[in-house]
Amino acid sequence: MKRIVILISGRGSNMQSVVEACASEGWPAEVSAVISNRADASGLAWAQARGIHTAVLDHKAFADREAFDAELATLIDSHQPDLVVLAGFMRILTPGFVRHYEGRLLNVHPSLLPAFPGLHTHRRAIEAGCKLAGATVHFVTAELDHGPIVAQAAVPVLPEDDEQALAARVLVQEHRLYPLAVGWFVRDELDITDGRVHHRSGAAQLLR
Ligand code: GAR
Repeated sequence: MKRIVILISGRGSNMQSVVEACASEGWPAEVSAVISNRADASGLAWAQARGIHTAVLDHKAFADREAFDAELATLIDSHQPDLVVLAGFMRILTPGFVRHYEGRLLNVHPSLLPAFPGLHTHRRAIEAGCKLAGATVHFVTAELDHGPIVAQAAVPVLPEDDEQALAARVLVQEHRLYPLAVGWFVRDELDITDGRVHHRSGAAQLLR
């Protein structure tokens, strides 16, 4: 049984999609804890209602990123996770933290990386005149929104799209993509060679 710890900062809809897939698909895994850096993250109540252990670690109570990340790692490690899933966890992580979880730290980002790392991805895609947008699940490295790509989902950018419309279309795909990628991880179906991730049985790593 693999143990998963999920980190959120807000709504937690990606966290929900992973928790639900874990239960409904019978993964050899359990979500051991959901941790937020914000006490008002609405996803916490959802996780609590499902009987999942939750915790809050307020980053504002720490002098710097190193101190917060050290305490966060202690909290995460108390659950002995095989995998840490970032699900809308809106914090820049220190290199030491990322190194500690190398190969077992996944993130979902709402763009087709390496395009548009950082914030306001949908606005930037529209402003750039992109015709294609999407989401990426990747292993986390020290560089922000960077690292070996596990899977991507692509959606069209329509002429009438505003930021909200595009975000909603991408989010639907995030909710397919993240459970797929996490399911592959917990079933040991992924191979990383030369910084590239392959599904061992050749499952499609691009969703459309
Ligand atoms: C999601 O769209 C996720 O891709 C994004 O935040 C949203 C969280 O929504 N993450 C990032 O931008 C990380 N760089 P959720 O709380 O409902 O899952």
